Amino acid sequence: MGSRSRARLRILAAGASAGLLMGAPAVAAGVADPSVWPVVADPVPADPALEARLAAILGRMSVEQKVGQVIQADVASVTPDDVARYHLGSILNGGNSAPGGKRYATGPEWLAGADAFYEASVRPQGKLPVIPIIWGSDAVHGHSKAIGATLFPHNIGLGAMRDPELMRKIGTVTATEMRVTGLDWTFAPTLAVVRDDRWGRSYEGFSEDPAVVASYAGPFVEGLQGKVGAADWLKGPHIVATAKHFVGDGGTTNGKDQGDNDAPEAELRDVQAAGYPPALKAGVQSVMASYSSWQGAKMHGNASLLTGVLKGRMGFGGFVVGDWNGHGQLPGCSPTDCPGALVAGMDMFMAPDSWKALHASTLKAVQAGTLPMARLDDAVARILRVKLRAGVFDDGKPSARPFGGKFELLGGPAHRAIARQAVRQSLVLLKNDGGALPLKPGQKLLVAGDGADSFMKQSGGWTLTWQGTGLKREDFPGATTIGAALVAAAGGAAELRPDGNYTAKPDVAVVVFGEDPYAEFQGDLPDLAFRDRADSLALLKRYRAAGVRTVAVFLSGRPLWVNPWINAADAFVAAWLPGSEGGGVADVLFGKADFTGKLPFSWPRTATQTRLNVGDPGYDPLFAFGYGLSYARPGRVASLSEDSGIVGGAGQPAGTWFQRGKIGTGLAMELAAAGASVPVAAGPAATANGWLRTAPVDRNAQEDSVRLTWSGGGPAQVVLRSAPPIDIARESNGELSIEIDVSADTLGTAPLLLGMGDARGIDLAPALRRGTGWQTVSVRLSCFAARGVDMTKVAVPLRLSTSAATDLRVSRIALGSTAAGAVSCD
Ligand code: BGC
Ligand code: BGC
Repeated sequence: MGSRSRARLRILAAGASAGLLMGAPAVAAGVADPSVWPVVADPVPADPALEARLAAILGRMSVEQKVGQVIQADVASVTPDDVARYHLGSILNGGNSAPGGKRYATGPEWLAGADAFYEASVRPQGKLPVIPIIWGSDAVHGHSKAIGATLFPHNIGLGAMRDPELMRKIGTVTATEMRVTGLDWTFAPTLAVVRDDRWGRSYEGFSEDPAVVASYAGPFVEGLQGKVGAADWLKGPHIVATAKHFVGDGGTTNGKDQGDNDAPEAELRDVQAAGYPPALKAGVQSVMASYSSWQGAKMHGNASLLTGVLKGRMGFGGFVVGDWNGHGQLPGCSPTDCPGALVAGMDMFMAPDSWKALHASTLKAVQAGTLPMARLDDAVARILRVKLRAGVFDDGKPSARPFGGKFELLGGPAHRAIARQAVRQSLVLLKNDGGALPLKPGQKLLVAGDGADSFMKQSGGWTLTWQGTGLKREDFPGATTIGAALVAAAGGAAELRPDGNYTAKPDVAVVVFGEDPYAEFQGDLPDLAFRDRADSLALLKRYRAAGVRTVAVFLSGRPLWVNPWINAADAFVAAWLPGSEGGGVADVLFGKADFTGKLPFSWPRTATQTRLNVGDPGYDPLFAFGYGLSYARPGRVASLSEDSGIVGGAGQPAGTWFQRGKIGTGLAMELAAAGASVPVAAGPAATANGWLRTAPVDRNAQEDSVRLTWSGGGPAQVVLRSAPPIDIARESNGELSIEIDVSADTLGTAPLLLGMGDARGIDLAPALRRGTGWQTVSVRLSCFAARGVDMTKVAVPLRLSTSAATDLRVSRIALGSTAAGAVSCD
């Protein structure tokens, strides 16, 4: 039997053991037929000397050491001693972790951490071969976990440039900055072809169009890794890249993160997978399995795609890494036990906090034969091959390697200049009526809006922290906000006022506004309506009414329905998430460079046009894929309909329990005291005994908040109920918190307890007493898990109770990770 048909049999067997029907793989749901996929030859030439070295190492390894090599732990949950003891092959820093127990860190702190883990990994251990560790990080828009690094526009903005050669440079800059801090490997590029912009990761994709994604994959991988065959491939200023998330992440139903992609196989191949053949031809050395499923089968266990298509048909010679505990989502698996993922073709578990128990269970699986030794050896060989290619066995500790410790390069001027160019090329001009743009020196300029002077809003998720929230100005040394850059470019008469007020009436107002940062499922939306936490529309209207020209600069991770804002602005610029170089926006707004950006995603006509992609039947966007005006090619935009198309008002995104005066979808609010409860609908309500009353009040907009008044007569509580109960297990191990935007106008002496389910509450009063006026208090979901709440079914996500006379105003209750006002629960 030929090796091809043997491989085929294994795939069929894996399909059968996953409970799928035996039969032609092309017709079984979630089982691919490799023969219909493109053939890609592995571009890396055979290297007999390297293979001999690899075989010699493998031959001396213990089984414990082999198991260690296929496991990656998170720096927040592992020590250098653990790495030595368990022979771990890799560590990562998740979105919220950095060396030394920090959430994010400076260049020297990263480098010291990298050296410490490296040194531990090469401690001699008797007869065992020494295998250095590699460190992976999400450098998804520059080396975005290091303070002071160059932050590039997120991929959606880069997609608007249509400039593959600039992508190559961006790749090398990012890799160089990683090398400066001692890291070896980035979890980028994301090659998702995003088909439903409600997806919270839309901005991580370059485009909805497979051709744009495919055109970027090769040059970007080469920029990060160098060219196959060159002496500095994976070395010097280069690192290991990851094509992710294989495959279908951008095409899930309703744009649900980690959801199911039910595309037919031909669409999965031609649309979703379009970036993989060019990335593989460029020699990408790792591929990350997707959290999502294809036709109901989770990708981490999909042998037909991981082994049959990727490693077989497409000749992938690197290794497949799993996603953050993604293996634990396979049927019959948990984060700490899942040989099936390796059997299906994954080579390295991403096991952030689960690594230790996973090591034990994987070892048992080898001993029991459920994980064949040959498969384990193949996985280890793939990992070691990449390590040998990248020089980690030969080049010493990270600080001793060519770029280690050259901190002048981290956010250095040459790197920032490339980012600034990318910002200029990424801007898409949607509207420019009456020559509002370019801005002219000598005009009186006002720059307003909550995005005008905000590093967080212009950088988005995956910036220093996972969600890109909870950051301070000092965390962005060397960066420039859009407003600061505009004021500098204007010279004299310019004011930067995020709140929108001005001292002298301007000639023109630039309002910078948009989405607040988010990452992954936190950004999923029920529709494409723009939900503004500030009131930028009111600002635009106010200026208009005063005869001031208006320019809107919209910061967002995707196209959203913003017709009222477009109507209220003379000029409208889609600026995406530009990153650290606000100067690029000023360059183009002042006409030092023309607009060249073209829409990488179709812009919706209504908020319900959610799966809107160029080439689809009945395609009817507001602004088509590829649209973009310029000073050279102006155009007029007629007044737009302000009907969002949403019937019955916009729903709340998941994880928002109360905002803008509305209770989250699926939730109900009630007041309870002395064993009796009353529902709270719109308008005032009170318990029968009057111990607690509530009424709508205004904060930023009419009735966007509630007042809660406890009389002090006796214990009373406000409760949020969910029917059916909500599952927030994932949010709770993703380190999210319940955040409450609150003004504590009167606080009593008794505790003010925030509870969940039946768990004992956590006293918010001390934290509230430390602040004044509106503030955010937050309590980690894990606090409630630790107090025994079953996070998979929470019927009462919130109860807030006290017995003392207390008066609060609450404007928002939501899951988030700002860590603002964090209340400790131990
Ligand atoms: C980590 C991220 C990870 C996420 C997944 C977070 O705590 O920081 O890196 O992607 O969890 O749940
Ligand atoms: C994300 C990946 C990321 C990983 C590590 C996961 O939650 O899906 O894209 O690389 O975390 O942070």
